[in-house]
Amino acid sequence: MGFFITFEGIEGCGKSTQLGLLKAHLEKKGRPVLSVREPGGTLLGEAVRSVLLSGTEEGVDPWAELFLYEACRAQLVSKVIRPALAAGKVVVSDRFYDSTLAYQGFGRGLDASKIESLNELATGGLVPDVTILVDCPEEVGLHRAWSRINASAGAREDRFEKEALDFHRRVRQGFLEIAKTSARVKVVDGSREISTVHREICDIIEGVAG
Ligand SMILES: Nc1ncnc2c1ncn2[C@@H]1O[C@H](COP(=O)(O)OP(=O)(O)OP(=O)(O)O)[C@@H](O)[C@H]1O
Ligand SMILES: [Mg+2]
Repeated sequence: MGFFITFEGIEGCGKSTQLGLLKAHLEKKGRPVLSVREPGGTLLGEAVRSVLLSGTEEGVDPWAELFLYEACRAQLVSKVIRPALAAGKVVVSDRFYDSTLAYQGFGRGLDASKIESLNELATGGLVPDVTILVDCPEEVGLHRAWSRINASAGAREDRFEKEALDFHRRVRQGFLEIAKTSARVKVVDGSREISTVHREICDIIEGVAG
């Protein structure tokens, strides 16, 4: 059987950076690695992703938003993640269901137990073997995310990044709450140097996966 690793944390904390470094590290050691991202990772998921991240003029109802995330997740788990795990691969996912609880639950105020039920339905009970929570203050993460966007030509629209700092503060606290109650979630201080964070993540994965 394979091994399932998820990366979580607020925007700009360094998830994608660290996921890429970990993937390269594992591949160098000869492990087959498949990386996916949420929302996305399937044709259906990428189509819904572009809707979710660009928003619509009429605004998106928080429950509608939740169902769209869960629809993407169900597709990704059944079409991509489960087959890859069955083939013995290491699957690394850039966000997974903890983000739904942090953003839609702690951030937007939807009922946490309902979200957890939907997460369970969408995943069919699949739980990551280990989750790396890259934690940093919201000011640091948003500053990094915004400078990345401004630096890239054709800056992408991301509804979340326009929202207030206090929303992201709630989301960050939500992730930390989740970490307190789940042993699989390892909190890593993402405000340090990229290489320092990477080394700690490698140590954690080696400790858990051997
Ligand atoms: N530890 C770090 N120190 C300084 N800059 C960093 C660090 N980690 C990542 N960055 C930079 O910050 C920006 C955001 O990093 P990255 O895209 O990895 O974050 P993310 O968590 O994937 O964000 P998003 O949720 O928006 O996808 C990038 O420009 C990246 O190079
Ligand atoms: Mg990213």
